[in-house]
Amino acid sequence: MTTKPAPMDPAAPILLFDSGVGGLSVLAKVRTVLPQAPVMYVSDNAGLPYGTKTEAQIAARVSGLLGRLTERFRPRLVCIACNTASTIALASVREVLEVPIVGTVPAIKPAAAMTQTGVIGLLGTAATIRQGYVDRLEAEFAAGKRLLRHGAGELVAAAEAKLRGKPVDPAVFGRATAALRAMPEGEKIDTLVLACTHFPLLEDELAAAFGPGVRFVDGSDGIARRIAFLTQGQTWARGAAGDPALFTRDDPADADLMPALASHGLTRRLVF
Ligand code: DGL
Repeated sequence: MTTKPAPMDPAAPILLFDSGVGGLSVLAKVRTVLPQAPVMYVSDNAGLPYGTKTEAQIAARVSGLLGRLTERFRPRLVCIACNTASTIALASVREVLEVPIVGTVPAIKPAAAMTQTGVIGLLGTAATIRQGYVDRLEAEFAAGKRLLRHGAGELVAAAEAKLRGKPVDPAVFGRATAALRAMPEGEKIDTLVLACTHFPLLEDELAAAFGPGVRFVDGSDGIARRIAFLTQGQTWARGAAGDPALFTRDDPADADLMPALASHGLTRRLVF
């Protein structure tokens, strides 16, 4: 006799995971495509930043946390809204969790289709830009083009500050631009891959620093489409009170994030 799977709880959330506020750039797109979906946003602020950690540290942290989170909250789907965590730990997390997992892939494929000059810039964390995962995307989708990578970890702190309403030193944007422009053929960059989910939160500042003629691309549209595809036909019941944002460390200063969280439909700040 075969047993039918239990029906999906309409209140079961999509769990969106990042080391900090970067995943909000992904959540914004998910809200556009699936406005009725209950979401549980998780920021591993106790582990932030991931970009300066080793592969082993990131893989252990992400698998352990997602294991405990899925057991406790039973999400219908997990989205790792973090390039660093995805490029390092996606395969191992998929091996241990039964829930569908959507990862974040640096948007090299769309960038290769967009570039006219054949020179693409990529900004990510130090950990992301050294991954074989990125080498493979480059070989598969950007062969014959030039991909210039720069680890711009200080932009992570800049995005965290911006969303708390804190001042950001504008020099950080100039440094990221100058580093890419100084590489061989860097002056020809016309397409920039934002390969860290924190960076689309700084797109205006980066666009001003790079000047006209540079187009930006990130993975969030593809992620939102993939989540919509994997949840087709499912029913949703989003609570009227809004969705929760979970933090792994209780930092009273994070109260400053409430306006940014609320603008993404996250009305409660909880500690996990
Ligand atoms: N938002 C993360 C990413 O997409 C990284 C931020 C961090 O260094 O923790 O890579």
